[in-house]
Amino acid sequence: MQINQLIDKFQEIFVTHEQPRVFFAPGRINLIGEHTDYNGGHVFPAAISFGTYAVVIPRQDRTLRFYSENFPEKGVFEVSLDELAYQKEDDWTNFPKGMILYFKEAGFSIETGFDVLFYGNIPNGAGLSSSASIELVTGVLLEHLYSLTIDRLQMVQIGQKVENQYIGVNSGIMDQFAIGMGKQDHAMLLNCDTLDYEYAPIQLANHDIIIINTNKRRELADSKYNERRSQCEQALADLQTKLSIGSLGELSPEQFEQSRHLIKDEINQKRAKHAVYENARTIEALQKLKAGELDAFGALVNQSHISLRDDYEVTGLELDTIAETAWQQAGVLGARMTGAGFGGCAIAIVEKDKVDSFKQAIEKAYQEKVGHAPSFYTAAIGDGAKEINLS
Ligand code: GLA
Repeated sequence: MQINQLIDKFQEIFVTHEQPRVFFAPGRINLIGEHTDYNGGHVFPAAISFGTYAVVIPRQDRTLRFYSENFPEKGVFEVSLDELAYQKEDDWTNFPKGMILYFKEAGFSIETGFDVLFYGNIPNGAGLSSSASIELVTGVLLEHLYSLTIDRLQMVQIGQKVENQYIGVNSGIMDQFAIGMGKQDHAMLLNCDTLDYEYAPIQLANHDIIIINTNKRRELADSKYNERRSQCEQALADLQTKLSIGSLGELSPEQFEQSRHLIKDEINQKRAKHAVYENARTIEALQKLKAGELDAFGALVNQSHISLRDDYEVTGLELDTIAETAWQQAGVLGARMTGAGFGGCAIAIVEKDKVDSFKQAIEKAYQEKVGHAPSFYTAAIGDGAKEINLS
């Protein structure tokens, strides 16, 4: 939907002729560095041009009215600024409610409500962070509507807190960071332990980043995400009986190999191995990209998938079929799952003039093995959360 259509829709739903303000927060892909954020390692994500729009007009009273063009059948939700606790029946509005509550708890003054229409064009449940996107679009909306002075990193951290404490998904900081801090045509290497980061131009010569959606829905809350996280925590606790480390991200692969016997459970050993090696691959991937060594970069991307398949075990038939078919195609630099896994999306870096044959090959193999069609999008790498200038 176009922005002017969203504005029309807003005016129809909330019965007004006033001109609303419009905000946008992207979704994200992660080039490499998966399941490393909550292990104190590095990630290498980028914001994409799909995302969530918020069309909004402030009110004079303490009422908040929420409507989503993605769930029109759910109608308008109305709550007061004094009733922001999580309520299951408040459905998707818990995401913006949580942001407002935690902004207030952080000391930001929000004393009047607003009417808002949300619309997201990130495929829902595709693992491209639609939830962090609605969190951050609410964050920028609050920042601008109430003229708040808030550091972007603090907004990102509030978003993560909503996910962890309000929604109850124990996720790391990658998604909110990528969506809050994104920059057009750049990926970000983030050290999730120190929160130091650097932008790296995505220079992929004559290649496009293709996003392939398995069209298998994945909900973090009911996936094995939290289980993987606790397996890593257990592995770390075992290592800490002899090593003075604060996170798995502090270990090089060599140090890990010397100490892996300390991890009692074999499965936990594999999980920790992934976290340590993936962190090393991510740091190396930035160097390869900077040096223009695209083949080496692609090889690291492929190794990431293999490790997520064999050691972290979060891929499954759908993502494996896509990645493994992609590796066999001409003009593919690399391909892997992106995000949490368990369904969701894969990415592939494909030579521009091979994109059509690539899609055909993936579609055919996927139909045969999985029994339904995947979807394809070309990723444009865009900016982080912001107000859209309508003039
Ligand atoms: C989800 C989480 C992130 C990160 C990835 C896996 O997207 O929200 O914090 O852990 O999975 O890398």
